[in-house]
Amino acid sequence: MQKKTHLWKTAILAALPLLVISGCGKKSGKDAKKGDAAADSAAVAAKEASMPFTLKEGKRLYNHYCFECHGDAGDGSGQYYGFSLTPQPANFTDKAFMKGLSDETIFKVISEGSASVGKSNMCPPWGKTLDREEIECMVAYVKTFAAK
Ligand code: HEC
Repeated sequence: MQKKTHLWKTAILAALPLLVISGCGKKSGKDAKKGDAAADSAAVAAKEASMPFTLKEGKRLYNHYCFECHGDAGDGSGQYYGFSLTPQPANFTDKAFMKGLSDETIFKVISEGSASVGKSNMCPPWGKTLDREEIECMVAYVKTFAAK
């Protein structure tokens, strides 16, 4: 009887490391995944932190005033894409299109609307809402889409 108990104990003791090992294996796998996600968001945060103030501010303003039409990726695929606007919002990732747009034109469009540069009136004017510096930040940010 005593010997049997002893055997059980031995079996349990022998199995313990296995449990611990497999348990640890799983845990470290999960941790590694979590680590990747954390590293990813840390990389994004680091990228944002290293952005010059002008671009950071431009991005903040763009994501407030422009993304619903032009999309957060700047490709014109905001929520109004495809149905409610004619013409479609400009695609800022189109390098050829962006080459033809001077800083002054982009500034004028933001400040006085697309009609002020001979286009439709679908891009609204913000000159009464935003000041010169804010608009300049957005001009700088809008140009980064085609630089990617
Ligand atoms: C209500 C939707 C809408 C919003 C909001 C909007 N746009 Fe537009 N935008 C358009 C449309 C539509 C066009 C295309 C106009 C055309 O070609 O007639 C356009 C065109 C442009 C152009 C190109 C003009 C040209 O000369 O071809 C620029 C630059 C621009 N938008 C910048 C912005 C910026 C920056 C913001 C935010 C401050 C913004 N837009 C907000 C709809 C919008």
